[in-house]
Amino acid sequence: MSRSYHITTYGCQMNEHDTERIAGLLEADGLVAAADEESADVVVLNTCCIRENADNKLYAKLGDLKVRKTENPGVQIAVAGCLAQKDRDTIRDRAGHVDVVFGTHNVHRAAELLGESRTNGPIVEVLEAAARDDAEAFPSALPPRSDAGYAAWLTIQVGCDNSCAYCIVPAVRGPELSRPLDDLVLDVAQMAGEGVTEVTLLGQNVNSYGRDLTLARRRQGEDVRVRPLFADLLRQVGGVEGIKRVRYVSPHPKDFRPETIAAMAETPAVCEHLHLPVQSGSDRVLAAMHRGYTAERYLEKLAAARSEIDDLAVTTDIIVGFPGETDDDFAATLELAAVAEFDAAFTYIYSERPGTEAAELTDLIEHAVSVERFEKLRAVLARSGARKHAERVGRIEEVVVEGVSKRNAERLTGRTRQNKVVHFDRVSSARVPSLRVGSYASIRVTESKGHYLMGEVVEVLAMPKHKVRIPVVAV
Ligand code: 5AD
Ligand code: SF4
Repeated sequence: MSRSYHITTYGCQMNEHDTERIAGLLEADGLVAAADEESADVVVLNTCCIRENADNKLYAKLGDLKVRKTENPGVQIAVAGCLAQKDRDTIRDRAGHVDVVFGTHNVHRAAELLGESRTNGPIVEVLEAAARDDAEAFPSALPPRSDAGYAAWLTIQVGCDNSCAYCIVPAVRGPELSRPLDDLVLDVAQMAGEGVTEVTLLGQNVNSYGRDLTLARRRQGEDVRVRPLFADLLRQVGGVEGIKRVRYVSPHPKDFRPETIAAMAETPAVCEHLHLPVQSGSDRVLAAMHRGYTAERYLEKLAAARSEIDDLAVTTDIIVGFPGETDDDFAATLELAAVAEFDAAFTYIYSERPGTEAAELTDLIEHAVSVERFEKLRAVLARSGARKHAERVGRIEEVVVEGVSKRNAERLTGRTRQNKVVHFDRVSSARVPSLRVGSYASIRVTESKGHYLMGEVVEVLAMPKHKVRIPVVAV
């Protein structure tokens, strides 16, 4: 019988994407997905070090797995992701039963490393960013195993050249490195040929996409102007036949340019959704974070985007409790949140990441104060979120079907271009074909709930090609 694997993903979309790549490699190597972690022969933990006390969680988890490994030595345990990249040796020291530790630049070796460790014992393989070459840094040549075959992620850039005081990403993921534009467009064309209709472009700082490529050409003596390539990329990916939706995360407000706004407005496939992380509404805190913009500048950029792009949904990231954040600073964040009218936001309590500049700061905010601020902020954000949802009732929206609703098997779940989740009853009749994962439909929004919308099918717009593997919804 085939060996089975289970991967637990922590953290961001970058990690989810890496998880798909690891799954693709393991499946290509003959493994099958296990129903759950308890029954898996290979357990992979794809870790994140951006926030939280991820380290403690990981070691607690590894403690549980030690029991399993003692009972069944055939079980293999692998730790991947940012935390593996950062703490490779600590992991082996503290959890000697881990078979493989591999870093974010070694994902392409996942299956081989697991194979090698079965004969040779434990392996730690973590490439430093400086040692990467393109083939190692980028997933293009790897088989991504997308859970929903109509949608794909595409890494356009790895690493980050910024130095936000709180953030560990530049230290862990290294400097920015972009994939050539033509390669990306070719990848998208190939994916579109296989039935992909939605692409999400991934990078830590997508607006500076291509800067490294241009600078490298200059160093070779070419006379090229450094100009923003991200807008070109959006236009070209959006122009690939068969691509109906293009999304991207995340732009940095400091580098968010009119060219990008124009490309979004003028490329029909690019979704009317902008995730623009603001982090704080206080200029003092923004400066301490080294974000490179003021609250006013942020709001100006937002206004420009909203005026050019019809029906734009805006989401953001906000951190509360950054060292030294005063009541006044926090009041400025609340004010910005109220004025900006976000559709939704990811909110975080500042967590100290050793090795970052902010970790040296001593003016720490008491946890209880941070929690109180966090809750106040959530309340303000919930109000604008609810208003934005309510505005959509009565509208007809284009929705792509993502699957069966978790709570009610009679319902399907889909997503609008503005990235809002909609639940609606399944329909199937002689007139309306059965919807499947990846189908596009017009949905009339009938009701707005806190985090999602309810709707009803008006008409089916397109059925998926489904040449790629997908979990088909039996309707
Ligand atoms: N503490 C809290 N939140 C953080 N983020 C990044 N680093 C930290 C940290 N040390 C948040 C930022 C970023 C998002 C991906 O995670 O808001 O935009
Ligand atoms: Fe971290 Fe700032 Fe780079 Fe984003 S832009 S990855 S927050 S350093």
